[in-house]
Amino acid sequence: MKRIGAMLAGMGIAMSVFAGTAAAETADLSSLVSKQEQQKMVNVAHRGASGHAPENTMAAFQKGFEMKADYIEIDVQMTKDGELVAIHDTTVDRTTNGTGAVGDLTFEEIRQLDAGSWFGPEFAGEKVPTFEEILDGFRGKTGVLIELKAPELYPGIEEKVAEALIERNMHRPNNAKIIIQSFNHGSMQTSKELLPNIPHGVLAGMSWANVTDEQLAEFATYADYFNPNMNIVTHELVAGVHAADMRIFPYTSRSQEQAFRLFDLGVDGIITDFPEHVYKHPVFN
Ligand code: G3P
Ligand code: CA
Repeated sequence: MKRIGAMLAGMGIAMSVFAGTAAAETADLSSLVSKQEQQKMVNVAHRGASGHAPENTMAAFQKGFEMKADYIEIDVQMTKDGELVAIHDTTVDRTTNGTGAVGDLTFEEIRQLDAGSWFGPEFAGEKVPTFEEILDGFRGKTGVLIELKAPELYPGIEEKVAEALIERNMHRPNNAKIIIQSFNHGSMQTSKELLPNIPHGVLAGMSWANVTDEQLAEFATYADYFNPNMNIVTHELVAGVHAADMRIFPYTSRSQEQAFRLFDLGVDGIITDFPEHVYKHPVFN
């Protein structure tokens, strides 16, 4: 009962409508929630399907697409010579065979690195992909949730991202499934001004556990999504985000139990390393 109630809340259906007897409620709700409505849970492959392939590589993005994720999530940063690339850390140390800060290396230097072997020998030779390669490779195939990672290190990155999207006519919501998000909320305000028709999101770490309705309303002046650390998600937070007319995609689910919990809390989407966890929820079966 709790699960179905939370799911309905997630779909914006007021529970007061269903304030009948408990027994009648259970039967009615099951039939009211059509299979199609249930499947609105958005499945986001975090850094690609990064539980199965090295994060932020074309292999991981392809895997996310093959697993039918609605979006692939990518972390975008900028090289010393101004190329936009997908990589999570601000150094290349953890996920490649190189060392150094992304912003201190040229694209040619970064491109020579192996971004796959650390994950498994079968991924040897995977490269750090460019933002434009990802757009060209996956447009029309799956959505792209673009995170601007540490944009304060890369002045002008919002403009460069906007240019790449506009060049491809992907800046209109009807043309492409694109969302832009960042922990840097000022960067999102800048980006929203450049790309007013693209949905934007604010990422919120643990320090936002007690976010107020007023703060959510302020975010909603430029953001369409409030995407928090999954550990701060409660029914109340989900209700507050929806009351502010935003959607909520928590990050990062890495187990089946975590995905089920988020589903039951009525979130709109789940950012996960394992897209299969979202589809395994009982409501799909
Ligand atoms: O999509 C949100 C999530 O990716 C934020 O955390 O550290 O994985 O970029 P992180
Ligand atoms: Ca990310």
